[in-house]
Amino acid sequence: MKSAIIGILVGILAALFAIQILGRQAPAIRTGWVPVTQLEMDTTQRARFERAEEARGAMFGSLLAELTSAIQEDGPAHAIGVCAERAPIIALETGVSHGVRIGRTSAQLRNPKNEIPDLLKEGIELGISGNEQTVFEDGDGDGGIAVLTPIVLMDQCVQCHGGEDQLGEGVAEALRERYPEDRATGYQPGDLRGWFWVVVEGDG
Ligand code: HEC
Repeated sequence: MKSAIIGILVGILAALFAIQILGRQAPAIRTGWVPVTQLEMDTTQRARFERAEEARGAMFGSLLAELTSAIQEDGPAHAIGVCAERAPIIALETGVSHGVRIGRTSAQLRNPKNEIPDLLKEGIELGISGNEQTVFEDGDGDGGIAVLTPIVLMDQCVQCHGGEDQLGEGVAEALRERYPEDRATGYQPGDLRGWFWVVVEGDG
């Protein structure tokens, strides 16, 4: 009788142990991104948010500087080529130097490669919060965050993103050649053109 009880207890313990080990080895289940307010963020997340903001500021500054000098050098049609080649590199360089992943996206893309990455698709829908910046936390609880920040069109953008009569000299042709699927014209200053997205991983 006694040994039967001990046998059962040992069995239960073994089962619990097995469950724990199996549980630990099971791959982490991603539960998607969940919006989080400034007040809800813990200290680590806030530091990650600041890093994301620094990266965004740096990428915005580099893009604007290169765009402006390319336009001044040789006009907007030439600057399209510079933007096409430099924008993806600037995104990668900024990501590496700030320890984040970063890019630009839009609901009406010029370059189809700027689609929001798969990593962000679980739980994030573009336009989810209109023109507001939104911070998301990784639902798996590792403290990772993602930040989506609206990009609003400015006056100097219409020469490449405005209506047909606002486009700079040679821009329409350059766009047809390089971006046959372009959906990023017809915007006016003040319009929501797209978003910067930044991801700071939980182990970052
Ligand atoms: C000289 C022309 C030119 C000007 C001026 C310009 N852009 Fe662009 N824009 C481009 C090109 C070319 C791309 C595609 C870059 C690529 O291939 O990644 C682009 C892409 C973008 C994207 C990424 C999403 C997408 O559609 O692929 C955003 C957002 C954007 N531009 C916003 C702006 C804003 C805001 C301004 C004004 C500050 C601006 N652009 C000024 C040419 C221009």
